[in-house]
Amino acid sequence: MPVTAIVGAQWGDEGKGKITDLLAEQADIVIRFGGGGNAGHTVINHLGEFALHIIPSGIFNPRAVSLVGTGAVVDLDGLGEEMDGLVREGVAVDNLRISSRAQLVMPYHLLLDRLTDEARGELTLGTTRKGIGPAYADKAERIGVRAGDLLHGAALRNALSVALPRHNAQLERFGEPPMSGKELEDRTLIWSERFGEMIVDQAVLVGDALDNGREILLEGQLGTMRDLDWGTYPYVTSSTTIAGGGGVGGGVPPRCIERVVGVVKAYTSAVGTGPVPAELTGTEGDALRRRGNEFGTTTGRPRRVGWFDAVATRYAHRLNRFTDLAITKLDVLDGLGHVKLITAYAINGTEVTTIPDTADMEQAIPIYEEMPGWQDDTSRVTSWSDLPANARRYVQRIEALAGAPVTIVSVGPARQQTIHR
Ligand code: GDP
Ligand code: IMO
Ligand code: MG
Repeated sequence: MPVTAIVGAQWGDEGKGKITDLLAEQADIVIRFGGGGNAGHTVINHLGEFALHIIPSGIFNPRAVSLVGTGAVVDLDGLGEEMDGLVREGVAVDNLRISSRAQLVMPYHLLLDRLTDEARGELTLGTTRKGIGPAYADKAERIGVRAGDLLHGAALRNALSVALPRHNAQLERFGEPPMSGKELEDRTLIWSERFGEMIVDQAVLVGDALDNGREILLEGQLGTMRDLDWGTYPYVTSSTTIAGGGGVGGGVPPRCIERVVGVVKAYTSAVGTGPVPAELTGTEGDALRRRGNEFGTTTGRPRRVGWFDAVATRYAHRLNRFTDLAITKLDVLDGLGHVKLITAYAINGTEVTTIPDTADMEQAIPIYEEMPGWQDDTSRVTSWSDLPANARRYVQRIEALAGAPVTIVSVGPARQQTIHR
């Protein structure tokens, strides 16, 4: 029962897409287990360069089934555009499936995401405006619409008859016009026609695959620090980003997940608001952002950047028990005189080595350790022993501070720019 979960160990954008594409070469099923179109997973391989939002990064393996899982929320208009984009680039999407139990992101969710976040004023979460929070809120409130409802006209009408009046009342409070039930139903009819045949019973698909010893990859979204329960609440997303979410959203019993790969960038980046102790402002931050080309895949926003935060990665390891760490973007640090890591935070005069409550996290001042940098270009290196000695020392230090073994080192965005250790 070889199941691997791939999750972000920082604030998102660690390079999960690249690592999933790489490991998906051997997979039979690749499942996006949570989140929605808020994700931006960049993949560069022999087929081209792609930015995926909801489609699993296993789509480039024509032998694998790619599944938008039960734990995900899916905007079908967005999904359709993404499918069209891939097909235009010559990538087949015939093996793409949607769990009947996945929640739909409805047009009112998209609108309410913006309106509710704007209403927070200075306390904005800076969401991606992809309807994530409102869609998960409806799921918990039990007024969501599920993909499987598209196959059952009466269930769909029932779901909308409960949800729409509530959302229209909310829209009215924001001074927005109500949405028409007729137009929404027409939209769902179009969706049924286009996506109906892709909707599957995930419990059967995954259960049979496990019975037959198939390789399953669980692709995470975002990172541990943005997990709904364990992240810097409320500056988080509305789903479970850690490996445990792979069990629930992926429909895989926890005891079947044998391998948990934590993806970490060789430094810190984050999009959106909330405390990020590592953040460097001013010219130092600008320089790192330019080096790493740290601009959001989904929103184009400049990412907040800083040195590697080992407190966050160690915390992520506590929650995920990584069997493997995959370090990405090591090449971005090439040519620096020195590199730094955060080993602890000072909070009100006390040294802290785990992630505290958000209010304390807002006060955290990083405590750094400095190491010598390396001058050689690592982007063409293909073996661990050929990496510059100081780069190896840096990776080993991350490994020691995080407490998990680094088995993959990525030195460029393309699939082949990867060192297996
Ligand atoms: P994800 O959301 O975790 O999949 O990460 P993103 O795709 O949003 O952001 C990672 C960015 O770094 C993308 O632009 C990748 O193409 C790029 N990338 C991934 N690995 C490497 C690497 O090792 N080196 C460099 N230079 N870029 C990388
Ligand atoms: P991937 O999967 C980086 C951030 C938003 C905001 C918070 C909540 O590519 O790593 P949401 O729209 O989910 O309600 O926003 O989470 N965020 C991301 N940051 N990468 C992502 O996805 C993100 N998805 C959401 O900026 O702070
Ligand atoms: Mg991303």
